[in-house]
Amino acid sequence: MTDSFDAVDVIVAKRNKQELSDGQIDWVIDAYTRGLVAEEQMSSLAMAILLNGMNRREISRWTAAMISSGDRMKFSSLSRPTSDKHSTGGVGDKITLPLAPLVAACGVAVPQLSGRGLGHTGGTLDKLESIPGWRAALSTAEMMRQLEDVGAVICAAGDRLAPADKKLYALRDVTGTVEAIPLIASSIMSKKIAEGTGSLVLDVKVGSGAFMKDVESARELARTMVDLGTDAGVNTVALLTNMQTPLGLTAGNALEVRESVEVLAGGGPPDVVELTLVLAREMLAAAGRGDVDPADALKDGRAMDVWRRMITAQGGDPSATLPVARETHQILAPGSGVLTQLDALKVGMAAWRLGAGRARKEDKVQAGAGIEMHAKPGAVLRAGDPLMTLHTDTPERFDRAIAALDGAYFIAPEDSRPDLLPLVIDRIS
Ligand code: URA
Repeated sequence: MTDSFDAVDVIVAKRNKQELSDGQIDWVIDAYTRGLVAEEQMSSLAMAILLNGMNRREISRWTAAMISSGDRMKFSSLSRPTSDKHSTGGVGDKITLPLAPLVAACGVAVPQLSGRGLGHTGGTLDKLESIPGWRAALSTAEMMRQLEDVGAVICAAGDRLAPADKKLYALRDVTGTVEAIPLIASSIMSKKIAEGTGSLVLDVKVGSGAFMKDVESARELARTMVDLGTDAGVNTVALLTNMQTPLGLTAGNALEVRESVEVLAGGGPPDVVELTLVLAREMLAAAGRGDVDPADALKDGRAMDVWRRMITAQGGDPSATLPVARETHQILAPGSGVLTQLDALKVGMAAWRLGAGRARKEDKVQAGAGIEMHAKPGAVLRAGDPLMTLHTDTPERFDRAIAALDGAYFIAPEDSRPDLLPLVIDRIS
């Protein structure tokens, strides 16, 4: 039983740039979850937090209160250590798919509770649901069994994982209060800490296709999340990675599964392979297995083996043919030269308009829809070379997708050098 406060007093305190006390934070989160603080009051408080911020103690207490609103999972009975990865989301970010089986193949269990996509970034569950038969919903007992037997689980987070965040995130989405670093950090970390992983690697995306458009704000978000994880006893590190341009050569559910399987088979685009290996090394090190080289497990097929078992364990057929969209439209290079820009946000918006993403939670996604890229920044092109292929089941969507790609790419004279951010920009521990 927490002390009782008045919602208006809490809002006014934050509006007047005061620190909220532990008691005020515990009360407001608990009362909001139980419907005793009204949506408009929480909306006002979220805006006051966005404008006036919170210090480390307040963010830590806010996160703890959101964890306490639901259940906390425990993996200490497993025979191996656990590690998880969280990405703040980007276009073509399919890394979880090859990464989870790869890390499991190296002896560390990966409990990955994932979400569905909203807006221009894809959701891991949407991608996996393009595999015939695969199911996202698992009971805790099924999840534990699969972690012990196979070593990797990617499934939907249940309703009891930080329910306060579920409610607050939906509210922030419609009140212009998503982009507050204390709220983003506490939202992500409450779910990750409640999930019970022993160690955590955060992939904080930077660039047009990410929440954080510049390196400085991404660094602040990463620092805040690493501090929250560390304070909660979870060994946490963060990498800042490039989301100026999409990851890999595909954006869209089945297209991204196909590319992930190529990586597991020893091929795939170099940036996807590199980021998968960098994150795998971080996860293994964070779980105390820094002596294992994940590149070996990718090369010798052990990661592919775990992938097949992981998909089969959740009802999927890893050998099934993946869905293909009914219609395609090719975009050709308008001139010759060097591709200096391929904008992640615009490609993500176009994939979304083709049917790969949803505008409202209840919308269905098209498994085969999306974009295949035939060139990435730095490539030399001749006029008329294929640049992208758009895929959809509903060709009336092509016009709006093509409009979203206006200004998405730039071809400069052949002696130009694109000014590209490195794939991994920084590491925060
Ligand atoms: N992802 C989350 O889970 N929460 C946020 O606030 C932002 C991204």
